[in-house]
Formats: sequence, structure tokens, C-alpha cells
Amino acid sequence: MGGVLIFLFLCSLLLLFIYPSSSLPLCTDKRAPLIPKTPLGFCPYNGRVCCNSNKDLQLQKQYEAMNISDLACASAVKSILCATCDQFSAELFRIESGPRSVPVLCNSTISPNSSLASKETTNSFCSSVWDVCQNISILNSPFAPSLQGRAGMPQNSTSSKLTELWQSTSDFCDAFGGVTDEDTLCFSGKPIVRNNTETPSPPKGLCLEKIGNGAYLNMVVHPDGSNRAFFSNQAGKIWLATVPEQDSGETLGLDESSPFVDLTDEVYLDTIFGMMGMAFHPNFARNGRFFASFNCDKSKSPGCSGRCACNSDVGCDPSKLGTSNTAQPCQYHAVVAEFTANGSASEPSMAKMAKPSEVRRIFTLGLPFTANHGGQILFGPSDGYLYFMMGDGGSKGDPYNFAQNKKSVLGKIMRLDVDNIPSAAEIVNLGLWGNYSIPQDNPSSEDKELQPEIWALGFRNPWRCSFDSERPSYFLCADIGQDQYEEVDLITKGGNYGWSVYEGPIVFKPEQAPGGNTSTDAIDPIFPVLGYKHSDINRKEGSAAISGGYIYRSMTDPCMHGSYLYGDLYAKAMWAAAESPKDSGNFTTTKIPFGCAHDSPTNCSTVPNSPLAALGYIFSFAEDNMKDVFILTSSGVYRVVRPSRCNYTCSKENLTALASPGPSPSSFGHHLDAPQIELLLFLSALLLFVGFLL
Ligand SMILES: *[C@@H]1O[C@H](CO)[C@@H](O)[C@H](O)[C@H]1NC(C)=O
Ligand SMILES: *[C@@H]1O[C@H](CO)[C@@H](O)[C@H](O)[C@H]1NC(C)=O
Ligand SMILES: *[C@@H]1O[C@H](CO)[C@@H](O)[C@H](O)[C@H]1NC(C)=O
Ligand SMILES: *[C@@H]1O[C@H](CO)[C@@H](O)[C@H](O)[C@H]1NC(C)=O
Ligand SMILES: *[C@@H]1O[C@H](CO)[C@@H](O)[C@H](O)[C@H]1NC(C)=O
Ligand SMILES: *[C@@H]1O[C@H](CO)[C@@H](O)[C@H](O)[C@H]1NC(C)=O
Ligand SMILES: *[C@@H]1O[C@H](CO)[C@@H](O)[C@H](O)[C@H]1NC(C)=O
Ligand SMILES: *[C@@H]1O[C@H](CO)[C@@H](O)[C@H](O)[C@H]1NC(C)=O
Ligand SMILES: *[C@@H]1O[C@H](CO)[C@@H](O)[C@H](O)[C@H]1NC(C)=O
Ligand SMILES: *[C@@H]1O[C@H](CO)[C@@H](O)[C@H](O)[C@H]1NC(C)=O
Ligand SMILES: *[C@@H]1O[C@H](CO)[C@@H](O)[C@H](O)[C@H]1NC(C)=O
Ligand SMILES: *[C@@H]1O[C@H](CO)[C@@H](O)[C@H](O)[C@H]1NC(C)=O
Repeated sequence: MGGVLIFLFLCSLLLLFIYPSSSLPLCTDKRAPLIPKTPLGFCPYNGRVCCNSNKDLQLQKQYEAMNISDLACASAVKSILCATCDQFSAELFRIESGPRSVPVLCNSTISPNSSLASKETTNSFCSSVWDVCQNISILNSPFAPSLQGRAGMPQNSTSSKLTELWQSTSDFCDAFGGVTDEDTLCFSGKPIVRNNTETPSPPKGLCLEKIGNGAYLNMVVHPDGSNRAFFSNQAGKIWLATVPEQDSGETLGLDESSPFVDLTDEVYLDTIFGMMGMAFHPNFARNGRFFASFNCDKSKSPGCSGRCACNSDVGCDPSKLGTSNTAQPCQYHAVVAEFTANGSASEPSMAKMAKPSEVRRIFTLGLPFTANHGGQILFGPSDGYLYFMMGDGGSKGDPYNFAQNKKSVLGKIMRLDVDNIPSAAEIVNLGLWGNYSIPQDNPSSEDKELQPEIWALGFRNPWRCSFDSERPSYFLCADIGQDQYEEVDLITKGGNYGWSVYEGPIVFKPEQAPGGNTSTDAIDPIFPVLGYKHSDINRKEGSAAISGGYIYRSMTDPCMHGSYLYGDLYAKAMWAAAESPKDSGNFTTTKIPFGCAHDSPTNCSTVPNSPLAALGYIFSFAEDNMKDVFILTSSGVYRVVRPSRCNYTCSKENLTALASPGPSPSSFGHHLDAPQIELLLFLSALLLFVGFLL
């Protein structure tokens, strides 16, 4: 069993290695493509593009300066220059493997099984460039060997013909050519069009089994790749649990009476406060480092106090914030603290418990109000940095405009380096919020106005982000809306996701507010890839709050494979969104019915004939090392299982793999168990993410 898991784990590492990172539409600067305010005049690109009109003009000047006399060659070179505007430019320029002056030009050999649009028309674009340009002088040629990092002829004239730079077509295409296959694109002279390969057909339903009764906010896999995972509750306890094998009929191996670590003394617990997140260092199995994100109350924990998010840098005066009930501004804090599993076992991976004493304080942020403080933390799978999700601080409508203020860390996704800890003096000098350093390529390296911690901005209350385990560049975050709209965003470097100028795609606050210009013309928002209006869902409890999930990568339910699964806390509804064409960011979503497996190890039902009520409030989704997906709710821990265990038909399911089909039909809603919902958690669910508390 263990051997199989380790083998699978190695396989998945291998896959990641062979297909490093791929592609959502992404620009060469790793930013998201946008729809420009004014259409491009020079480059023939429209819709979502990677150039604004300045860049377009710059390309036009560069092109004119090349002084290409021949029309056919000029047109080819223009198309090549303009490829940088293509929404897939990151992929065309293979940015993962270093800078290039020219995109990968489609070569003569095209993968026969390519399902991509460019297949027929791209034969040998590279050699046709050679054919039309070989004898033509190009000033400051982009095809100079030095620019491609390859040895060519040792010429360095400002004006050159291809024949002066390269020996032959094959020499030229060795350097600039390449092919398109399932995972990479090449440039054929035209904007990339990715066709729909198939219209996604939604799964019939999602079959769940209940494997635990506890109400947890977080589940995070053990980084050693084993069948173990950590669970945490809002009060501040973390447990190490064994995840049972699919079809084993077993429940979660979790002993509530012996937590891995108990941080309840440090954590301030109230309806909307508590332990919000946890993360285990990618190298946890060897270094024992883990991190908790929680709230504290400085009037109760003396060590908790940090700088207030409302300060003069962001145009906010704490004395003018007023008080909410009894709380003072910045009485409550959002904290990320580091702990160690060292010392309780011969090596950290064997540790079954850890001391609750903080090793290092990573972040301490005084909160201006009481709501919208996100709090999820997770390590980026390809960069190893710690991402920290922070809401706008929680006053209705974000009156101080924190989410758009580039100097505020509220309403942001932050990206921190916790492997290189500066000295205490440096921390003070740099004005950091704790013990971390700033990754060199954070967006502030290009936009000096940005606070250096910021990776992306314009969030209200990001509640649950995940990286696609097959495509580490795909970073999806759900952001809880206020009055009208719940959204899912595809997060890119420096991206502005609109709040509070926009709520989802809807203009929210088109006026000036303290701390920044909230005119819609003042920002370049990236609109959600998915979302729903409050009016479009069943809001029995008068509210809505999205809970972001995962792109389902298990084959347990082959009909779900590749779809993004997410839910709503209050509506107790779930959706599956299929993306088509591949890597396009074009999702089609379907509300997905769900049922409980007839052979669920624990009875799912708490309320007769009401599957929705039985599931409880959807707090979070999670993914284990087998890529199976879990739903953490107020009524327990659920896992997605084979559709046939609920009588859902999925033609892709391998039914021969079944030992014997179960006898009785699915049953979400048979008999009454005592409801598992503790009062506190119930209230939390009602209040957790709603921002009208001041
Ligand atoms: C551009 O090319 C033309 C001939 O094709 C030549 O007369 C002119 O001098 C060139 N301009 C520059 C700046 O080299
Ligand atoms: C291409 O598709 C054919 C059948 O359509 C298959 O036999 C062949 O193995 C595929 N080749 C590759 C390289 O995937
Ligand atoms: C993709 O779509 C374009 C335009 O609709 C069409 O001309 C082309 O044949 C399609 N390619 C494939 C591979 O389906
Ligand atoms: C380029 O020059 C070579 C030799 O001077 C000649 O053979 C060839 O036909 C020319 N090609 C074009 C496209 O003018
Ligand atoms: C080659 O040309 C480039 C661009 O014109 C220039 O920056 C560089 O210094 C030149 N190198 C040599 C060795 O002349
Ligand atoms: C492109 O094709 C040429 C022959 O036409 C070949 O010599 C070259 O190696 C190919 N380049 C790549 C990157 O496939
Ligand atoms: C988005 O997906 C839908 C459903 O598959 C499809 O009808 C539509 O054409 C796609 N849009 C784009 C721009 O590809
Ligand atoms: C924990 O132990 C590992 C080696 O087992 C060591 O590398 C690491 O520095 C230790 N961490 C702490 C905080 O002591
Ligand atoms: C850095 O961590 C140490 C140890 O926890 C702590 O004493 C110190 O206050 C932290 N620095 C900041 C700025 O939080
Ligand atoms: C806000 O930005 C817009 C667009 O950049 C500009 O037209 C407007 O004058 C700005 N308003 C203020 C008050 O700065
Ligand atoms: C289905 O499962 C059986 C038993 O595990 C296995 O032998 C068979 O190869 C599987 N078929 C497919 C198409 O995966
Ligand atoms: C489940 O499937 C079995 C066998 O196909 C059938 O007899 C039964 O009625 C189904 N139950 C439901 C609830 O559809």
C-alpha cells in the first residue's frame, strides 16, 4: 500500500517534470491577457490580448525601423513581432525556458494527433519565413544568433539578411522552429485559436461518502505523499489523520482526543475569528516546519500585537474608525506563525504531535474591523513561496478602499518567502510585517507603487484558493461577494480582480473614495472566470458565500475529471465547471446534484429526505495525495467516490473494477442522527464571511 502510494507520488513528480508548467492564456511577463481600452491599431489582435496601445505603438516603431523592402518578408516579420500580443504569448515564447526574441515558429513536422486549430495551416511556417526573408535586409534583425543564445555566424551588423546569419533553412529552423503538440503551441503567423475539442457534458451527479463527523475548516495533505492529512478546526486544533482507501468502507483515522497540536490558547475564537488556515512546508518531512494562520486578540494575548492595517501609509486614521460593539480598531489581528514538529519523533515525517510553542512569527496584521480577513495560506507548488489570502478588512463596501490601495495589504493575495528570513534590523528597515522576505519577482519589481508583499489585488474576502495539481500555473481563487455576486478568479501576477470598483463583473463603486481612485477608468480589472448572482441561487438563509474548490484530477469519478468543483456555503449547492477549449479560461458551469453512496461508511443523513440540509454548510474543499476531493462541512467530512455507488451513470467509469455492485440505492436523507452541528460553528457559518459587521 505504502509502496504503491510512493510509486504514484514519484510518477506524479515525474509528470510534473516532463511537462513543467503549462498554460492558461498568459503573457510573456506572466501577467493575464486583457481586453484593451482602445483597439490595437498596428497588430492584428483583438479580444483578450497581451498588448495595450503603448506596446502596439512601440511594436509599430520597431517594425518601421527594420526598413524591410520586401512585402512578403515584411508581413511575416510583422506577424512575428506582433506575436507578443497573442494571449498565449507566454507559451509561444516558451518563457519557462528563458528569454527569446522570436516565438517558436511552427516547423514542418507537426504532431499528427494535434487537436489544435493551427494544425493544417501551419506546415512549415518557419521555412516559409526563411524562403521569403532570406535575401532581404532587416535592420536590427530579431533573428540574430546572439539573440537566440545560439552560435551562428559571428556577424554583428545592424543590417542583416538571414543568409548572413544562418547557413540554411534547417540551420535557421533548428534555432527558431518547433512543433505544436498537446501541451505546447507554436506560432504559424496567425493569432492562436484553440477550438473546442468537445462540448463538455456535465456529470450526472456527484457521489459522496461520509468518512467523518467532525466539523473542520481545513484539510491539508501530508507533504510526504502518504495517505495522511492534517485537519484543523476553527478553535485551533490540528489533527493528523489517515485517509482510508477508496472502497475500503473505512472512516477517517482521526482521534479527536489526541490532536497533532493544540493552539487554542493562542487562537481567539469567536463567530468570525479563529484558526483560518494552515500550511506544511514542502520539505516538512525533513525540516518539520509548519505554519498556522489564525486570529488573536491583543487584549488577551500580550504577544499578539502588530502594526494596524489602518495607518497613515494607506490614508487611514485608526482613531476615526470608531468601535464595533466593544472592539477597538486593531484589537484583533491576523497572524501567521511558524511551528515545528521537531523533537517529538526521530524524524519530522514520523511526528505524531508537535509542541504548541511558536518558533517564529511570520506575519502580524492589526485588523481595522472584524470581518473579511480571509486567512488561507498555501505553498505554491512550483515556486515554494507562501501565498497568504487577505480580505478587505470587513466594513461594508470597503469604505477606505483598502482592496484597491496598492499600499495596503488588505484585499490582497500576498506572496512571501519564508525560507530566507532577514535579520531583525532588515525587517524594520524594509517595513515588513514579520519574519519573511520578498520574492525577487513579486509584482512590485515592476510596479514600484505596489506594496512588495502583493501578488494580486482587488479582493473582498478570498475564501479558498487552489493550484491545479496538473497545471501549477493555474491558480484559482473564489472571492466572496457582498450584495450581488460570488466569483472565481484565475489569479495572475499583479492582477487586479476589481473589488470594490467591481463586484464580479458588476460596477460596484464608481466614485472616488479615500485611499485611491475608484473610477472604473482608473483600473484594469480582470473579470472572474466563473461566478453567480445572488439572485440566481436558492438563498433560504438570505445570503450567499462562495467556497472555492479544486480542479478535480482524480480518476475515481472520470466524469468529473478536469472540472473545477466549488460550492456555496449557504445555498449548500455545488457546481462543476468544465473548461473548453483546453487552457482557455473559458469555463461552462453546471449545478451538480449530489447524493450519498448507499454504502457510505457513516450515514450521511441528519434530516429526513433533505440531502441539502444533511450536507450542512460547506466550509471548504480539499484534495488528498491521491487527488481525491473532499468536502468539509458543518456536518462532517465527505469524499467524492465512484458515481455508481450512488447509481449515477458515468459511461467512463470502469465498472469491471467493481467487486460487487451494492444492493440498495443512494440515501442522502434516511434517518435522523443527532445533528452534529455545534452551536458555535452554526453561528460561524451564518456570520463567517458576511461583511456587514462593522
Ligand atoms: C531603407 O531602405 C531604403 C531602400 O530600400 C533605403 O534607401 C533607405 O536608406 C533605408 N533607410 C534606412 C534608415 O536605412
Ligand atoms: C495518434 O493517434 C493514433 C490513433 O488515432 C494512435 O494510434 C497513435 O498512437 C497516436 N500517436 C501519438 C503520438 O499519440
Ligand atoms: C478550428 O476552427 C477554425 C475556425 O472555426 C476552423 O477553420 C478550423 O478548421 C478548426 N480546426 C480544427 C482542428 O478543428
Ligand atoms: C536569394 O538569393 C539566392 C542567391 O543569391 C537566389 O538563388 C535565390 O533565388 C534568392 N531567393 C529569393 C527568394 O529571392
Ligand atoms: C552587436 O549589435 C548590438 C545591437 O546593435 C550591440 O548592442 C552590440 O554591442 C554589438 N556587439 C558587438 C560585439 O559589436
Ligand atoms: C525544424 O525542421 C528542420 C528541417 O526542416 C530541422 O532541421 C530542425 O531540427 C527542426 N527544428 C525543430 C526544433 O524541430
Ligand atoms: C466557451 O465554451 C462554450 C461551451 O463549450 C462554447 O460554446 C464557447 O464557444 C466557448 N467560447 C470560446 C470563446 O471558446
Ligand atoms: C528540525 O530538524 C531538522 C532535521 O531533522 C533540521 O534541519 C531543522 O533545522 C530543525 N528545525 C528546527 C526549528 O529546529
Ligand atoms: C520574528 O520572529 C521572532 C521569533 O518569533 C519574534 O520575536 C519577532 O517579533 C518576529 N519579528 C516580527 C517583525 O514579527
Ligand atoms: C480617476 O481616474 C480617472 C481615469 O484615470 C481619471 O479620469 C479621473 O480624473 C481620476 N479621478 C481623480 C479624482 O483623480
Ligand atoms: C477496469 O478495471 C479492471 C479491474 O481493476 C482492470 O483489469 C481493467 O484493465 C480496467 N479497464 C480499464 C479500461 O481501465
Ligand atoms: C439503482 O440501480 C439499481 C440497479 O440498476 C436499480 O434497481 C435501482 O432502482 C436504482 N436506484 C435508484 C435510486 O435509482
